[in-house]
Amino acid sequence: MPELAYLNGKIRPISETYVPIEDRGYQFGDAVYEFIASYNGKLFCMEEHMKRLQTSMEGLSFPKIDKSFIEKAVYELFEKAKIARAGIYIQISRGVAPRDHAWDKKMKVQIIMTIKEVKEYPLKLREDGIGIITVQDERWANCNIKTVQILFNAMAKQKAKDQGAFDAIFISKDGIVREGTSSNFFMIKDGCLITHPLTKNILPGITRMVIMDLARDLGIKTEEKFILKTDLFSANEAFLSGTITEILGVRTIDGIKIGKGKPGEITQKLYKALRKKAEQDI
Ligand code: PDD
Repeated sequence: MPELAYLNGKIRPISETYVPIEDRGYQFGDAVYEFIASYNGKLFCMEEHMKRLQTSMEGLSFPKIDKSFIEKAVYELFEKAKIARAGIYIQISRGVAPRDHAWDKKMKVQIIMTIKEVKEYPLKLREDGIGIITVQDERWANCNIKTVQILFNAMAKQKAKDQGAFDAIFISKDGIVREGTSSNFFMIKDGCLITHPLTKNILPGITRMVIMDLARDLGIKTEEKFILKTDLFSANEAFLSGTITEILGVRTIDGIKIGKGKPGEITQKLYKALRKKAEQDI
């Protein structure tokens, strides 16, 4: 099961693959990315990830790249690595050029990918739930674009880890709960599943979208509205969602118990439905 890297059409071991130092992704954070997971040898929500990648590139005025070209490259790497439960990281930078803030519009994008086996979270973590902390959202104004400029996300995740928590959620200056450092946030109140509406302040998570559909299929009421930090502590349940996170139930926020202090019934129901869909789908 080799862990491989793709760089502009060439597939090699990760340890033998290098990006030029004048790649704009490296110098300016001028790159977009996606992370796709596979279950039982099938890529989950490939179409949706490809669509979001295109939207991110449009958001940064990248030149148009044929969707089928990227798709073909992803499948080529996936088929070569033969990893049934894989995580594929795709990064497209604007290109390589001598350092200059403005760019040449004819520049050729750089496509890199890595493929590795997904390490599942321990069952105990899923059963016990996670502790999360709140941090003020100091990220840029276009969090709907999946750029590699996620330093503040990384700092918030590290802060959580240093405090013995699993993750952090961002709170706006006005007290609105945005999302996790690499996940979307949901809470359940009186049987209703609530999450942040799709605005420029959060990433339009693909898992988020799948969960909203699953909830409707399961007859769970859903609502997209702003959640205030002060609302958090009256939640019956809460969870984070994402491609790797899947659904992780929250035990505490800032040390305060949420609901019964472990993943609740609706959270567990949705997790089972998500796994089932991912394992059987496509
Ligand atoms: N991150 N919000 C943020 C800020 C994210 O970085 C992610 C995903 C999500 C969830 O999106 P999705 O359900 O499409 O994975 C929400 C990926 C996994 C990452 O950074 O590796």
